[in-house]
Amino acid sequence: MGELLRLLDAKMSFAQKRWQARGRIQMPQKNTVNTLDRNSSPPFHGTVALVTGASRGIGRAIALRLAKLGAAVSICGRDAQALTASEAELKKLGAPVYSQIADVSQSRDVTALVDKTRAALGPISILVNNAGLGLFGPTHEKTEAEWDRVLNSNLKSAFLASRAVAPTMIQRGGGDIINISSLAGRNAFAGGGIYCASKWGLQGLSACMAEDLRGYGIRVSVICPGSVATEFSGHNRKDPSKVLSPEDVAHAVEMIVTQSPQSFLSEIQLRPLHKP
Ligand SMILES: NC(=O)c1ccc[n+]([C@@H]2O[C@H](COP(=O)([O-])OP(=O)(O)OC[C@H]3O[C@@H](n4cnc5c(N)ncnc54)[C@H](OP(=O)(O)O)[C@@H]3O)[C@@H](O)[C@H]2O)c1
Repeated sequence: MGELLRLLDAKMSFAQKRWQARGRIQMPQKNTVNTLDRNSSPPFHGTVALVTGASRGIGRAIALRLAKLGAAVSICGRDAQALTASEAELKKLGAPVYSQIADVSQSRDVTALVDKTRAALGPISILVNNAGLGLFGPTHEKTEAEWDRVLNSNLKSAFLASRAVAPTMIQRGGGDIINISSLAGRNAFAGGGIYCASKWGLQGLSACMAEDLRGYGIRVSVICPGSVATEFSGHNRKDPSKVLSPEDVAHAVEMIVTQSPQSFLSEIQLRPLHKP
């Protein structure tokens, strides 16, 4: 019995030693931390992230979270005043920041945004396609202009920005493209026709681009939040205990970018715990 225990003990310490050795190899790599050691230097120091639609709401919370993780952050939006306020908050964290007024539904704006980000901060390793808008009501009552506005802002924008960053990510052998979809990209409801079309489209785009790019070490993932307390569609007037906060979505982004390199969290569905 004593001999058996000694053998078991020897085996266990061997396993522990091997586990520690694996930890030592993985921890120093960028983008490889599973749990963040808050006392060490920020894990994304030297990493460049571009967050679209970061002048307020979810995009601003994501940009702040990435800056807290040490990333240099580029942000865009169309409202100059709100964008300047986001930029100031990011700078308070000591993050290198680039901000540009840009309409992400316009190819020219997106190309300029990506080129100028690269020139100001370096090559982009994390792209968060967040910019978007909501427009609801019976689809048969909507105009062609409304269809174009929603589809171009919510779906075409992700195509334009992803296509602009992908070649450099391919060259560098990795990156994260994170698309902010919605539970409306998974469900149908009356009055949701145009918005759901944009988000279901974004789900399809994300899944196909994920297959195109995973061989290059690039993860294209999608986050599908339920109701989030932002200015979007007046959600900020709801009971805050029954909606998500923008920081909850930022936390999901953190989960994606801090995975180990062999892991691919392809979709996160995020709901308020308590039903409205
Ligand atoms: N809030 C929710 O309940 C909820 C739930 C699920 C998913 N989402 C998605 O989350 C994303 C962010 O929504 P949010 O709740 O944070 O909304 P929000 O508070 O209205 O913020 C939207 C952001 O997108 C920007 N934006 C919109 N169209 C743009 C364009 N064409 N070019 C550049 N920037 C543009 C806005 O900036 P400017 O106005 O300055 O251009 C703003 O910074 C959207 O894709 C939305 O569909 C939201």
